[in-house]
Amino acid sequence: MKIRKKTDTIKDKILEKLILNKGEPVSGETLASELSVSRAAVWKQVQALKGEGYMIRSSTKRGYSLEGSPDVLAPAGIKAGLGTTIMGKNIHYFKETVSTNILARDMACSVEEGTVVIAESQTGGRGRLGRKWISPEGGIWLSVVLKPKMEPLYAPRITLLAGVAVAKTIRSYGLPAKIKWPNDVLINGKKVCGILTEIGAEMDSIDYVVLGVGIDANVDTETFPEEFRDSSTSLKNELGGSINRVEFVQRLLSELESLYLKFQGEGFSSIMEDWRNMSATIGEWVKITTQTRAIYGEAVGVDSEGALILETEEGKLEKIVAGNCEHLRRGNVA
Ligand code: BTN
Repeated sequence: MKIRKKTDTIKDKILEKLILNKGEPVSGETLASELSVSRAAVWKQVQALKGEGYMIRSSTKRGYSLEGSPDVLAPAGIKAGLGTTIMGKNIHYFKETVSTNILARDMACSVEEGTVVIAESQTGGRGRLGRKWISPEGGIWLSVVLKPKMEPLYAPRITLLAGVAVAKTIRSYGLPAKIKWPNDVLINGKKVCGILTEIGAEMDSIDYVVLGVGIDANVDTETFPEEFRDSSTSLKNELGGSINRVEFVQRLLSELESLYLKFQGEGFSSIMEDWRNMSATIGEWVKITTQTRAIYGEAVGVDSEGALILETEEGKLEKIVAGNCEHLRRGNVA
C-alpha cells in the first residue's frame, strides 16, 4: 500500500484552498503561512499539481489561481466543499489498485468510520457471488468503512441503504434510477451500479462493514464485454455526455451520510420505504438462483431485513435471504 507523504497532504491542502477560492488568486504568502511551510515549499507543490494536470496560473503579484482541473478523483477535489462530517473525512486515493474493498478491509480496524478508499481503476475488482468486477478508468470505484453498532444479522440493511443512496444520487441527475433486489441500481432496466458489502464481525457485534460501490460513470458502453452490453449501461451513455465524477462522489457521500444518520437516529423503516418506492423488482416475475436451487415466483415484497418475499406459482410464500435475481417476463419460466 502506498504510504502518503507529508508533502502529499500539503499538496492536497493547497489544492483544496485553490478550489475553494473558485479561480480567484491566493498569494503564496497566505498559503505558506496558513499551512506553516515556506513559500518555496508552496511553489514546489504547485509545480507538482501542474504536473498532475491542474491548470494553475502563477503571478508574482497576485499569487496562484486554479483555472482548470483534470478529470481525477483526487481527495482534495472531493473534500473541497463536501458538506459531510463522517463520510469522506479521510480519503485514500489510488490511480490503480487491485480492489478498493480489499484495501478498505485491510485498513478497516485502524481507520475512522467513514474512511473512503477510491481508485481510478481496479485490476481485480470483486463482484457479488465471487464474480469479477470490470473496473476501467472513467468509472467510480470506491469503498467506505463503516462501524455501525448492531448485530451482524442486520448488516444487509447497510446494503439496502447504499442502494437507496446511489439511486437517489443518480435521480438527482434526472435519470430514472431503480433498485433491483438486492442491490443493483438500474437505469431503464440496465445495470449501472453494483454494491458489494463485506463485514468483519464477532458472533453478536459488527467490527466493521466495507461498503463497496462500483458505478459505470464515464465508461463507454462499447467497451463493455459483449455479454454485458445488452444488460448494462453507464451514466455517460444515459446522459449523452460525461459527468463531473468529483461532484457525483460528493453528492453520493452526502446522501450516504444523511441516510446513515437517519438509520442510526430513527431506525430503518423510512429507508425501507424509500427502497420499496424505488424497487424495480417488486411486482416482477423473477428467477432466484441460490447455491442449492432455482426458485420462480412473483416478487411481492421485501421484509424489514431486506429478504425478498416471493409468491410461487403454487401460491406459496417464500422468503429469500440471498441469491442471484433475474427479472423474467411473466410466463417465461423455462
Ligand atoms: C456486484 O457484483 O454487483 C457488486 C460489484 C461491486 C463493485 C465495487 S467497485 C468498488 C469495490 N471494490 C471492489 O472490488 N468491488 C466493489
